[in-house]
Amino acid sequence: MKKVLSGIQPSGTLTIGNYIGAIKQFVELQHEHECYFMVVDLHAITVPQEPEKLREQTEMVAALYIAAGIDPNKACIFAQSQVPEHAQMGWMMSTLTYMGELERMTQFKDKSAGKASVGVGLFVYPSLQAADILLYKADLVPVGEDQKQHLELTRDLAQRFNQRFGELFTLPEPYIHQVGARIMSLEDATSKMSKSSPNPGSFISMLDEPDVIRKKLSRATTDSGREVRFAPAEKPEISNLMSIYSHCSGLSLAEIEAKYEGQGYGAFKKDLAEQVVATLEPIQQRYKEVRASGEIHEILRRGSEKARETASVTLRQTMEAMGFLM
Ligand code: AMP
Ligand code: TRP
Repeated sequence: MKKVLSGIQPSGTLTIGNYIGAIKQFVELQHEHECYFMVVDLHAITVPQEPEKLREQTEMVAALYIAAGIDPNKACIFAQSQVPEHAQMGWMMSTLTYMGELERMTQFKDKSAGKASVGVGLFVYPSLQAADILLYKADLVPVGEDQKQHLELTRDLAQRFNQRFGELFTLPEPYIHQVGARIMSLEDATSKMSKSSPNPGSFISMLDEPDVIRKKLSRATTDSGREVRFAPAEKPEISNLMSIYSHCSGLSLAEIEAKYEGQGYGAFKKDLAEQVVATLEPIQQRYKEVRASGEIHEILRRGSEKARETASVTLRQTMEAMGFLM
C-alpha cells in the first residue's frame, strides 16, 4: 500500500482552491492508501499569527477535513506540532539544505517581497516541509501546483541524505490534478486564489453562506467575449471558472463547453454558483455537526499518537545514520 501525506496551514478560512487542489484529492486517496493528513501549524507561524486565532483555525482545518469526507478511522489526521519529531527532523533537514536552494523558492520570494523584516522560519519553511514528508517515507504528496517546487527540494534532500548516509528515504512524487491544480482569484486571473488575501471578493471560502457564494460568483470577472470555452492563455478568467465548475459538477471541460454553447456567460455563471453551493452546503452542514460534537481534540490526539509510531522510528533511523549517540 502506498503512503500518502499532505498538509494545510491553519492560517485562515480554507478556500475552494484548497478544496479542489488538495482536500478533494485527500478524500479520494484515503480508500486505497495509508494516509496522513496534517494541520501544519508549525508552518503557519512562519508569518505572524494571533494565538487565539491559530488555535481556532487549527480546529477548523481538522474539522473541515472530516466534514469534506476524510474518515479519521481510515486516515491519520493530526496537528504537526503535536508530533515533536517534525521539529526535530526539520532541524536535520535544514542542515542538509543550501541557502541558494531556499533563496530560489518562489513561495519565499512572494511572501517576503516588500517586507521590512522577514522571519528565518519563513526561509527554512521548505526544509520543515521536507521533514514532514520524509518522516513517513511518503510515496505520494497530493498538493496544488504551487507546491511543486517544494516537492522537488524534498526529493533533492532525500537523495542527498541517501547518498551521504546510506539509503533511508523514499523519493516522494507530487500528486497534482490536471485541471484545477491552480485555482485563480475571482478578481484577477493572474494571481492564485488565496485564503490570506485581504479581499474576500477574490476567493470563495469553504464556509461562505450560499448567498455570499452566489454574489461573489456573479461578480467574478470574465474575459471579454461571450463564449464558454476552455483556453487558459486566451480566456484565463472563464477557464478558471470552468475548472471550478468541472470539479464541483463532475462534468468534463468538453461537456461544459457543449452544455453552454451559444448561451453566453450569464447562464453559465448562474449554474456555476448552484454547483458550488451544492458542493459546499453538505460540507458546511457536517462541519457544524463535527464542531458541535466536541470530538476534534480527541481525534487529533489519537492521530498524533498513531503518527508518532512511524515518525519516531524514522527520526531514530535518521539520527543513527547521521552519527548521533542513540
Ligand atoms: P495552503 O493554503 O498554502 O496551506 O495550501 C494547502 C494546499 O492547498 C496546498 O496543497 C496548496 O497547493 C493547495 N492550494 C492552495 N490554494 C490553491 C489554489 N488556489 N488552487 C489550487 N490549490 C491550492
Ligand atoms: N507548504 C504547504 C502549503 O503551503 C503545506 C505543507 C506543509 C505541506 N508540509 C507539507 C504540503 C507536507 C504537503 C506535504 O500548501
